[in-house]
Amino acid sequence: MATRTKRNGKSSRPSAKPKRKQALKPRKDVPSAISLLKSDHREVEHLFSQFEAATSSARKRAIVQKICDALTVHTTIEEDIFYPPARAALKRAGEDLMDEAEVEHEGIKWRIDILKRMKPEDDLYDAEVKVLSEYVKHHVKEEERELFPKLRISAFDNAGVGEKLAAGKEKMTGKPVKVEPSLLERGIEALVGPSPGTI
Ligand SMILES: [Fe+2]
Ligand SMILES: [Fe+2]
Repeated sequence: MATRTKRNGKSSRPSAKPKRKQALKPRKDVPSAISLLKSDHREVEHLFSQFEAATSSARKRAIVQKICDALTVHTTIEEDIFYPPARAALKRAGEDLMDEAEVEHEGIKWRIDILKRMKPEDDLYDAEVKVLSEYVKHHVKEEERELFPKLRISAFDNAGVGEKLAAGKEKMTGKPVKVEPSLLERGIEALVGPSPGTI
């Protein structure tokens, strides 16, 4: 319950700072936005290759469930947390790219909905998974080859947004987010010391 204090006999109100606020420690284990999103991309690619090797219906169903869950979390945190500041950082130069990314997400979510209603025994099940993987591959290529490089040379707050993405992902999955820094990040850190996440 909030504590209440009285000042000069006037009306009481919750104390603005009942005790000294503890400084928030920056979480060193939190990846930058781009590292976190790239790690998600690799995870989904891995799941699609696991599906290609799967033979039993049970295994296929389990992998597709993981793919759908991972893509749902990824598209949600991108749309809610990543795309708005990315759009703001790139301004008009990134307008078309950001619009395309959002439309591509709609396509991915539409295919996920179809897949969720299917069974591995259905005739077109494997084809649906393949088409979803192609959609995702195309979208990931655009993000990694066009969007991320543009953001790296913009005012985009890679560290700050990374922290928010990690929090959003942890909230959705209930699991802690841990991403190994990329070779590029490690190289720059070795040269100039720990960065605030501007990679
Ligand atoms: Fe992505
Ligand atoms: Fe995306």
